[in-house]
Amino acid sequence: MESVIIKEKQRDFQEKLREAALALKNGKLVAFPTETVFGLGANAFDDAACQNIYKAKGRPQDNPLIVHVSDMEMAFSLIKDYDDRFIKLAEAFWQGPISFVLKKNDKVCKTVSAGLDTVAIRMPNNKIALELIKTSGVPVAAPSANISGRPSPTRSEHVIFDLSGRCDYIVCSDEFPIGVESTVVDLSTEETVILRPGFVSANMIEEQTGIKVKSHNKDKDVAVPKSPGTKYKHYSPNARVYMVDDDFKSSDIAEFAKSKDVLASRCKFLEYKDDVQMAKNLFADFREADKEKFELILVKPAKDGELLEANLNRLKKASEN
Ligand code: TXA
Ligand code: MG
Repeated sequence: MESVIIKEKQRDFQEKLREAALALKNGKLVAFPTETVFGLGANAFDDAACQNIYKAKGRPQDNPLIVHVSDMEMAFSLIKDYDDRFIKLAEAFWQGPISFVLKKNDKVCKTVSAGLDTVAIRMPNNKIALELIKTSGVPVAAPSANISGRPSPTRSEHVIFDLSGRCDYIVCSDEFPIGVESTVVDLSTEETVILRPGFVSANMIEEQTGIKVKSHNKDKDVAVPKSPGTKYKHYSPNARVYMVDDDFKSSDIAEFAKSKDVLASRCKFLEYKDDVQMAKNLFADFREADKEKFELILVKPAKDGELLEANLNRLKKASEN
């Protein structure tokens, strides 16, 4: 399969985007930018198309997909029931980097939900994504547009590197997204639970809506994890990643490298001035280090900020310690 690459700056961009939207509706796979990371999309009503997402990414079958919508009507077309929380949260944070898990109806194909009776829905805050979904006229199931297990794509070149030849269209963008995926919030039970931390923090939710939320960190302790994706190794470059303490300095690299039996010259040290910069660059820096064939990546995370929890969550999943 040859992937058609569509660039924001090309003269016939709008025409090609319409072509991609039509193809998406008709069962093809289209990668596209969002404000968090790039996604790999398929028509959420088309089971065969959604199965192709799993094939293209090498994604485990039990990990459900987030469905992207362009308006509330499209969101309502996917769900069986909802309560006030959904309306309040959608009003406060959509379009934006937050996904809501709700009881699904029968129109959502089985593959999207990986056998669960719920569906995760999100309205992205990205012009190209919204236009693509709106023009296609169907809700779009889309996980991050990377080969499963690798760092999520935060630049067009990452999508091309991972998925060129594995999907039908790749819509590029020159904008750098937030860099961490959406917050996933479960609204399908009485308690409101954050299944995956993201840009929208528990604090922001409580402050802006008055809704109290819990963090779900107990996946290890339950037989069936609530958010199946959280149990897999994730976001990993080929190099081994270690998180280092706040007092780690460049002069400590040699000793650390030696303790891992690696030459200091094969060791990349990443540090970030703040949480926003870390989110924006971490995955891109991982991929850059792989290109340069580093064997170890040492990361000193940003200390605080609204994105702290999301950043540490991603870094811990990628690292050996
Ligand atoms: O920002 C994002 O959310 C990006 C962009 C492309 O929108 N998408 C993304 O998708 O990160 P993915 O597939 O990489 O992660 C989806 C997460 C997984 O942890 C999955 O288990 C969880 O959402 N999820 C999806 N549907 C669910 C459901 N019905 N119940 C619980 N968790 C669900
Ligand atoms: Mg992903």
